[in-house]
Amino acid sequence: MVGASLGIKLTQLNHHVRMGSRTANNEKAEEFIKQAGMGASQGTFADAAAYGEIVFNCTKGDGALDAIKAAGEENLKGKILVDVSNPLDFSKGMPPILIPALSNTNSLGEEIQKRLPGTHVIKALNTVNCMLMVNPASVPGLHDVFICGNDETAKAKVTEILKSFGWISIIDVGDITAARATEMMLPLWIRLMMKFQSPNFNFKIVK
Ligand SMILES: NC(=O)c1ccc[n+]([C@@H]2O[C@H](COP(=O)([O-])OP(=O)(O)OC[C@H]3O[C@@H](n4cnc5c(N)ncnc54)[C@H](OP(=O)(O)O)[C@@H]3O)[C@@H](O)[C@H]2O)c1
Repeated sequence: MVGASLGIKLTQLNHHVRMGSRTANNEKAEEFIKQAGMGASQGTFADAAAYGEIVFNCTKGDGALDAIKAAGEENLKGKILVDVSNPLDFSKGMPPILIPALSNTNSLGEEIQKRLPGTHVIKALNTVNCMLMVNPASVPGLHDVFICGNDETAKAKVTEILKSFGWISIIDVGDITAARATEMMLPLWIRLMMKFQSPNFNFKIVK
């Protein structure tokens, strides 16, 4: 869902996008290619990681570290990886819990950065629904998206991409350890989604 939503928007903005998955011929990726058209292709996680100048991790929280391993450290070296994933465990139904080893004193964003020391991991967009990620105006008014990571140049590049999606208020919450905070917003986000019966809302910080 998230990969397709971001991928379609990126092709509309004239980027070339390769959708990775565990198999080189993935049905959902084929559907994405049909919808995205020109500039879209698919391959394994390693193919996509090698192809991209900038890589988005949009994989399921409890499979993300396996997906990163499959993508390959060498294929991601020197690149920006935008981590959109959340360390959620849905195994006991709704609402999910945060995976204990990846929350409070750790985070999925940090864990990915540890496993990819030569990559600039930037956490962003994980606190908004995938339709809103690429169309912030679908919720009226000014509302916020958070970004964090260790490298200022990489953060500036990702900020540019977020602006190209239509984001106006982009709050830099610090280095990659701030992913603990933005990932831990998810239990509240999910409760709100259950209450509103819709994912089309966002957080707004008022000072
Ligand atoms: N849905 C949203 O609106 C939303 C918003 C913000 C953040 N997020 C986060 O974004 C991520 C993607 O969410 P989603 O709803 O698009 O899809 P999802 O069902 O959570 O994840 C699908 C992706 O995860 C991969 N995957 C699943 N299990 C795996 C495993 N064991 N090993 C390796 N890869 C595995 C799948 O690979 P295959 O294609 O090979 O199956 C596919 O690429 C999640 O972490 C979610 O929390 C979602």
